[in-house]
Amino acid sequence: MTNIDTRHHALYVPQTASRRSFLQTSAAVGVGALASSNFAWAAGSGEIKLGLIGCGGRGSGAADQALSSGNKNITLWAMGDAHKDRLDGSYSNLSQKHTDQVKVSDERKFVGLDAYEQVLKECDLVILATPPGFRPYHFEAAVNAGKNIFMEKPVATDAPGIRKVMEMAKVADQKGLKVVAGLQRRYQGCYREALKQVKENNIIGDIISGQMYWDDAGVWVKDRLDGMTEMQYQLLNWYYFTWLCGDHIVEQHIHNLDIANWFIGSTPISAQGMGGRQNRIGAKFPDIYASEKDKGLDGILKKVRDDNKFGEIFDHHFVEYTYANGVRINSQCRHQKNVYNAVREEFHGTKGILYLDNSGRCRAVDYKGNPIWSYDREQFKKDINPYQVEHNELQAAIMNNTPINNAHYVADSTMTAIFGRLATYGGKEIQWDAALKSDIQLMPAKVTWDTVPPSKPDELGYYPVAIPGTTKVI
Ligand SMILES: NC(=O)c1ccc[n+]([C@@H]2O[C@H](COP(=O)([O-])OP(=O)(O)OC[C@H]3O[C@@H](n4cnc5c(N)ncnc54)[C@H](O)[C@@H]3O)[C@@H](O)[C@H]2O)c1
Repeated sequence: MTNIDTRHHALYVPQTASRRSFLQTSAAVGVGALASSNFAWAAGSGEIKLGLIGCGGRGSGAADQALSSGNKNITLWAMGDAHKDRLDGSYSNLSQKHTDQVKVSDERKFVGLDAYEQVLKECDLVILATPPGFRPYHFEAAVNAGKNIFMEKPVATDAPGIRKVMEMAKVADQKGLKVVAGLQRRYQGCYREALKQVKENNIIGDIISGQMYWDDAGVWVKDRLDGMTEMQYQLLNWYYFTWLCGDHIVEQHIHNLDIANWFIGSTPISAQGMGGRQNRIGAKFPDIYASEKDKGLDGILKKVRDDNKFGEIFDHHFVEYTYANGVRINSQCRHQKNVYNAVREEFHGTKGILYLDNSGRCRAVDYKGNPIWSYDREQFKKDINPYQVEHNELQAAIMNNTPINNAHYVADSTMTAIFGRLATYGGKEIQWDAALKSDIQLMPAKVTWDTVPPSKPDELGYYPVAIPGTTKVI
């Protein structure tokens, strides 16, 4: 399977195994983990028809994991994507790896921005893995259709989207639907054990403050192709448009901010921060003029426009979050090359410091530097890949009809990340309640290929970038 998501997220791979072999091992362990309870389910067939909406890197990876749970009665039954080539590529990879479990007939392959409506008619369990802006609408439709759901983070890009997810999360509870969200640290052994050590064994005392980091070089960027409409381009290069992605503080840093909320046990009440873009300044006009001047004004303008690939998102954010009990979380995320890199979390307590990261090096020390606790390396090597655990536990909940609904906390953590972005874009201290009530909606309720995207380039292809102190965010 070549399409498993490996694009930019710090991966959970034991040093002794490649990700591919580890996925295979994990799948085998998954069978054992589920075997005791799985297939006795209601004396039924245990059959689950899976639908995939958004057949890109992560959607394909999630479908692979769903099919690797050990339940041979789960089949990939329907697929939908905005782009036929993405759907075809994903189908081809998945059917090679899971020959007996991929049963997507041509009539159940749906292409287009409304493909989700058709997929939902065909499946029992659905994976929602499009760019995040669409998630509130897809989640709403999936809950209304009574489906069990695996949905990737983040689950919205604006406050109205979050409110929709929060509302539908309650409906999912009422309907008894099973919902798992792709915040995989919550499914990772070392994080679960660390939380237990903090809550039950009080190893660092009360948490006073914390530092959250997602500093790395950044992710893919897609070229504008000749003849593309602005909507086609923005959907292809979705990472760089806030209405689709949320900015990288939302798309990636959510993982760390979710850890802050999880360990503290609540969402923040206020935030203030700073951010901007120094490396994403777009085309350098003098360079372009020098290389394109023979092509005349049209050639120069075309090159300027083509080189503006970084849309409107920032390349760095720093946010100070305050929680109701006075706890402070400092969060930083950055997309810049050749600078300090870190993807991890740290908490300072009354008795010591807890260091967490998804390579399993989780440990605590006292303020003299003496070790208090560390996660066992041998156990880490044995742990099932958390991306796999998500699907194993979701399917076990479906089979056993036990409650699971991550929609509440993924909505809170997505809002925490959006809250940070509002603080850095606006440059002012803001309050959670006001931010959550905000009616500023980035994501149109309905998007078609003819919709005019909310982010509009000027005549040179520059997109409006937030200016702290000036931009209205709430
Ligand atoms: N949990 C994790 O570690 C993790 C890792 C990577 C990505 N993600 C999340 O997964 C989601 C997808 O990311 P990705 O890396 O797979 O992106 P991607 O660009 O590879 O895939 C997105 C797919 O969605 C399709 N699409 C876009 N709009 C659509 C619509 N309205 N209806 C149907 N299909 C549509 C695109 O054509 C594309 O195939 C994002 O929310 C991202 O944040 C999570």
